[in-house]
Amino acid sequence: VKVGVFDSGVGGITVLTALRKLLPAIDFVYLGDTANVPYGTKSSGQVVRLSLDAVSELRDRGVGALVVACNTASSVALPSIESAMRGIPVLGVVEPGAEAAVHAFRSAPEGGEILILATRATVRSGAYRKAIEELAELSGEHPPVVDEQECPLLVPMIEEGWLDHPILAATVREYVSKWARSSSPGVALLGCTHYPWIQTAIERALPGWTVVNSAQVVAEAFRARLGRDALHQLEQAPVGAIEWLFTDPHAVPAFAQDWISKA
Ligand code: DGL
Repeated sequence: VKVGVFDSGVGGITVLTALRKLLPAIDFVYLGDTANVPYGTKSSGQVVRLSLDAVSELRDRGVGALVVACNTASSVALPSIESAMRGIPVLGVVEPGAEAAVHAFRSAPEGGEILILATRATVRSGAYRKAIEELAELSGEHPPVVDEQECPLLVPMIEEGWLDHPILAATVREYVSKWARSSSPGVALLGCTHYPWIQTAIERALPGWTVVNSAQVVAEAFRARLGRDALHQLEQAPVGAIEWLFTDPHAVPAFAQDWISKA
């Protein structure tokens, strides 16, 4: 039995990397909806429909658990995905992402604020703000200041393979210029699983800020969510395999193909 990892495109590979590191013996099946990426500029109704279509493929293949490795789908479609998976454990990335941001914020020397960089649909859903406020409430702390910036041009550029392109770098600088000038740098969360692919460009555009990739916290949350017995049943071989499914295999960028060939 495999664990499904779903994203609109190649962003979820950043989560899969962390899952593999933490749980090397598990077999994974990765599904990237490259025929329909980006999700982040679409309406919630469209994101729900596309996500349900995609995960039904994984359900039909009999996955034992599912990681929704897409912040956009996690923000707007998680309850629908959970009911479509009919009792199979499903983990979204927003709650662990909020945890990763709050954790980094607590240990950041500068204080400042939490800046969420995400797709338009994720920002509009308010899911991160809500998750961070809930965490603060649970711990009885004063909620940190949260700002959000939607970055709709980034996912198409990443899917185009422009990781190290001057246009990508300039676009990132433009999106974060307001915060780059801030006198108290804070924590910037990569609230889209595509963004760890361009983490260097984001770090360069936000000098002094702590840039957080939540993938490892997502992997840890997945391990905790399943528990030891369920994980034991999923462990197949010393080194698990990865099966790759893309709704448009021709639309997989070369850098991701390169990663896949080495995985
Ligand atoms: N990786 C998806 C996310 O985390 C990208 C969404 C999109 O396709 O725009 O939000």
